[in-house]
Amino acid sequence: MVEGVCGACHLEGKNNAPRIGDAKAWAPRAAQGLTALTDHALNGIRSMPAHGGSPGLSDVEIERAITYMVNQSGGNWVEPIGGATPAVVRTSESIVNGQCSKCHRTGENGAPKIGNREDWLPHLKKGMDKLVASAVNGHGPMPARGGLSDLSDDEVRGAIVYMFNYGVPATPPPQPVSQRNPYRKVVAGTDIYLGIMSADRLRASPAVGVAPGSIPEGKGYYHLNIALADDKSQVPVTDARVRLRVSDGMTMQTKNLELVAANNTVSYGAFFRLSSGNSYNITAEVQRAGETRPIRANFEFRAP
Ligand code: HEC
Ligand code: HEC
Repeated sequence: MVEGVCGACHLEGKNNAPRIGDAKAWAPRAAQGLTALTDHALNGIRSMPAHGGSPGLSDVEIERAITYMVNQSGGNWVEPIGGATPAVVRTSESIVNGQCSKCHRTGENGAPKIGNREDWLPHLKKGMDKLVASAVNGHGPMPARGGLSDLSDDEVRGAIVYMFNYGVPATPPPQPVSQRNPYRKVVAGTDIYLGIMSADRLRASPAVGVAPGSIPEGKGYYHLNIALADDKSQVPVTDARVRLRVSDGMTMQTKNLELVAANNTVSYGAFFRLSSGNSYNITAEVQRAGETRPIRANFEFRAP
């Protein structure tokens, strides 16, 4: 089937079809996972016709054909046995228990252990997006997508967060600021805390998770940090994307915050340059995983 139908284009690489056996052409595509690739092959993408031009092929035949081509091109996927791509959304818990736990429960070959924050923090310091990409692509003894080629990127992300948060007691974490502090806002069930520390103070207290080499030289730099927690459970939220907009009316700086791992928890931060004496309006835009829209919180800060 592959030779007959798909091979018409994929053997020669017609119209830039990724050639069977061309590992370089397939690697970035394979990295999207079987679910996404099957979707593209079923619906067509650019000059790739829907169903490879053969509407009679079933979903699983397409999946097998893709798996075959990926495996002929440097991949190592397990052939789907039957049924279509799972329609049921798997929970992070079931993914971890069914697959990731094979190595991450005992820490086999140095796999960071489930629920062990000390194991996970150094990995999380890469930033969540990089960590997800790393798990998606695999490296060394860590197989691509943890060995489940049909996991979506979001499912991989969810599994990582589950392993990091596993067993965290539902008691409030140490509050970065007091409850009455203006730097705490509760929006749509999410606690949003703003922390501000000058670059000079950071240099003097290296324990806060910011690499000393990344602290900018020069006057007026502040590290702005957003910590998130679920308002009900007070479990830290570690899989959000956070953007800060900082404006004094005349100037505006916008940055995506990096994951900062310190003191047994994770927050999000970046450096901003603030002018002494100016009042700033700081808007945090928080996109939580699984939510369709970001939430926003506003803070005021006068640079001393
Ligand atoms: C008429 C030519 C043609 C045939 C037949 C064909 N393909 Fe393709 N295919 C392409 C082209 C061209 C691309 C590259 C599209 C692009 O990325 O712009 C492609 C890309 C793909 C991709 C990568 C999609 C992605 O998201 O990057 C998959 C998977 C794929 N084909 C599977 C198949 C399968 C399975 C069959 C057989 C059932 C098949 N193709 C038959 C032309 C073809
Ligand atoms: C066959 C064993 C095995 C399975 C199954 C497995 N892992 Fe891993 N994983 C490892 C090992 C070993 C490491 C440490 C490798 C290293 O960091 O070089 C690792 C590291 C990781 C890392 C850190 C990567 C980094 O760049 O720091 C993440 C994230 C991860 N695994 C996620 C997952 C997820 C999610 C699953 C389940 C879907 C999973 N793993 C399943 C063995 C496994």
